[in-house]
Amino acid sequence: MRHDAAPIIRLQDYRPSDFLIDRVDLDVRLHPTATRVTATLAIRPNPEGRSDAALVLDGDELNLKGVSLDGRDLPAAEFDATTQGLIIAQPPRQAFTLRIETEIDPTANTKLMGLYRSGGNYCTQCEADGFRRITYFLDRPDVLAVYTTRIEADLGEAPVLLGNGNPVEVGPVAGTDRHFAVWHDPHPKPAYLFALVGGRLGHVTRAYTTASGRAVKLSVYVEPGKEDRAGYALDALERSMRWDERVFGLEYDLDEFNVVAVSDFNMGAMENKGLNIFNDKYVLASPETATDADYANIEAIIAHEYFHNWTGNRITCRDWFQLCLKEGLTVFRDQEFSSDERSRAVHRIAEVKTLRARQFSEDAGPLAHPVRPRQYREINNFYTATVYEKGAEIVRMLKTLIGAADFRKGMDLYVARCDGTAATVEDFLAAFADVTGRDLSHFAQWYSQAGTPRVTVTGTYDAAAQTYRVDFTQATNPTPGETLKKPMAIPVRLGLVAPDGSALAARSDRVSRDGVFLLEAERDSIVFTDVSQKPTPSVFRDFSAPVKVALDLGNDDLLVLLRHDSDPFNRWQAAQSVSLRLLVSLAKGEPVGPAEIAPLASALTGFLERDALADPAFAALVLSQPGEAEIAQEIAADVDPDAVHAARRTVRRQIAEAASPLLRRLYDDLADTGPYRPDAASAGKRALRNIALDLLAVADPDAGQTLARAQALGATNMTDRLAALSTLATIPGQPREDALAAFGERYREEPLVLDKWFTLQAAIEEPGTLARVQGLLTHPAFSLGNPNRVRALIGSFAMLNQTQFNRADGAGYRFVAETILQVDALNPQLAARLLTAFSSWRLMAGGRRGHARSALVSIADSPRLSRDARDIVQRTLEESKPA
Ligand code: TRP
Ligand code: ZN
Repeated sequence: MRHDAAPIIRLQDYRPSDFLIDRVDLDVRLHPTATRVTATLAIRPNPEGRSDAALVLDGDELNLKGVSLDGRDLPAAEFDATTQGLIIAQPPRQAFTLRIETEIDPTANTKLMGLYRSGGNYCTQCEADGFRRITYFLDRPDVLAVYTTRIEADLGEAPVLLGNGNPVEVGPVAGTDRHFAVWHDPHPKPAYLFALVGGRLGHVTRAYTTASGRAVKLSVYVEPGKEDRAGYALDALERSMRWDERVFGLEYDLDEFNVVAVSDFNMGAMENKGLNIFNDKYVLASPETATDADYANIEAIIAHEYFHNWTGNRITCRDWFQLCLKEGLTVFRDQEFSSDERSRAVHRIAEVKTLRARQFSEDAGPLAHPVRPRQYREINNFYTATVYEKGAEIVRMLKTLIGAADFRKGMDLYVARCDGTAATVEDFLAAFADVTGRDLSHFAQWYSQAGTPRVTVTGTYDAAAQTYRVDFTQATNPTPGETLKKPMAIPVRLGLVAPDGSALAARSDRVSRDGVFLLEAERDSIVFTDVSQKPTPSVFRDFSAPVKVALDLGNDDLLVLLRHDSDPFNRWQAAQSVSLRLLVSLAKGEPVGPAEIAPLASALTGFLERDALADPAFAALVLSQPGEAEIAQEIAADVDPDAVHAARRTVRRQIAEAASPLLRRLYDDLADTGPYRPDAASAGKRALRNIALDLLAVADPDAGQTLARAQALGATNMTDRLAALSTLATIPGQPREDALAAFGERYREEPLVLDKWFTLQAAIEEPGTLARVQGLLTHPAFSLGNPNRVRALIGSFAMLNQTQFNRADGAGYRFVAETILQVDALNPQLAARLLTAFSSWRLMAGGRRGHARSALVSIADSPRLSRDARDIVQRTLEESKPA
């Protein structure tokens, strides 16, 4: 059976809307299955639009109950309405008022877009195009309106009613069991930022005063009884608000700021104006139920959504091709916040690990696209690591190039110019070009060219001339639709390290005062003068550009950097590079014996001895080896995931054996008896102690098992309990099964904790895991309708478990494909996300590749596939060719 693909939407086809909507008055009468929405829209022709155009409003699965224009009921002959749109062919050519009544069923809404129910509460999700599932509208981000929302509900069912903006009025509906609330948002906004919430919710509240003296009431709403888990989010919100005032001079602009946690949510959170809605996983935290990583995520995502108030809401996007304008910039801002609140070096390494794992692999596969895509079929499939994470790297490179002071000036100018508008990437760059007088046109190519540049670096020392030359080349592999790649403008932060580990004060006029060289051509060189000894180059310090680096340095030189580089990122990178070389060789079956691994093992042991306690969080990162997916990416073709797994085990075992006494000492010394605190320093100690535990279990499974069992029993916080359980999970046998069962029983009423338990089991790299995961599908806490559950079990199996998802017999692929089809019938966005697990299928060795292709074809052949899933599956199967 053939299916017509959805039409392609192109950036080059952008035109302003023919009509504008200045004011929206909504009256929403909440009902579980028949919610009535009356929208009163103040519409006028757009002077920049076509003067004879029809009014074409977007809709999606809507049931129209009535429509009137300037108070006159419209006869059927004067409009054309379907569930998917409402067209008035001959609308007035001056301002007019359109009143539309629709009926929607929030209980039947399993897509979690538009108005839906979660845990008995009502909530909305409108980005990117969910508002059209509430009423007919010009559902595009360049139509900005002032919204007033009246929400009415049964008082018992929904005592709490929240909307965008400021509260205006509340009261009973006379003669009924119902009540209402009116909210008014004075800031014009696109429909995707609309939100409302109705339900039974508890909350915690704090008063806040902005730098200029505005009083703001901050509240976090959660399931009743869980208020004691909302405090950390509230605290993170207050810190975010202070930080944005201090670092960017940006203040909050309403009387209230509300955050609501819901348990059914497609993504992390949503920045609706004054009413952020969150996946409860990124709000709720207690020492008993949340790990250190959860606390860090909550802090980052609370900050991210709050920061959108300026970068996204006050300044929004002209069209969805500009998504990185708000997302890349806001990720950059939340990363800076977390770096300031925690450890900058450690956070930078964590950012790069995520970028490499998610974005580099995306850029190397069939779904590669520029940070600003030129076309899409389904916009929801472009909320990607490329748009978010690589988008943030572009902003960071801009700051590296122009310096912190000019970066702040450029941000100020961008805000001053674009506040209240729907802007473009060009508007953003123009602000920085104007404050610096620089031509940023070559730099702008980071937004338009997909793919990860590969940079080679070769150093040559001339003892007679006392010079050191560094030669650079750059190239980028073809990506879908882009065969010919141009050179990029790549900032290289670099320095030279003397043999004794000191920094060499060499000079080159190609390197800026703050140590940055801009590589713009396909090849270029710099020559340092006055170099008295042969140095080791340290390039791409702090990961100054999102590129792959091939460094012409031996392992011994790299291990010098691990020991001495003043740049902590490159210290970490040096160990990773050595390790990755060994892992790749081993996995390819090249002769790598203990003698080859020994220098790494002894360098790491030496590092631990000297430096572990100075910065435990950093030490934990230095100890962790590249993951299996990263190794597979590096091998790039005919990957045998079992060989990759075995290689990793071999290297880890030798490191663990070499460091064993030391690891044991660290494990004991780092035992913390005080009350749990989620701060970065305490978390760092736990991280190092728990990686020590994991390595001890690699060196000696029996001893490790004994330690881990004791830790699992005695743990006083979720971080240590889960770490112990995940170490136990690597050792087959009854103790593991008992510990898993005990954990499952202990947290049977805690869905977010059970998610960790699902994930841990799905990630066990043993042939029995597929059956285990299939069994867990029938666990009472599991549900195919809940995105967190599905991601925890199915997503983890497909994305984390390299050997079992990529089983040689294809059973892993078949299972995931079948499950995706079931999910797709309920929630297309979630299904499309899961499908991206298949995007590395071409890396695999022949047999697996064939099985993966069959599984993908079985999805593509399914008659009732959503547009979301069809878009991903088609692009994943397509041979790379110009679009
Ligand atoms: N704009 C949100 C953010 O990055 C994410 C988002 C986009 C989203 N589409 C969504 C969240 C759909 C939930 C559902 O902060
Ligand atoms: Zn965002």
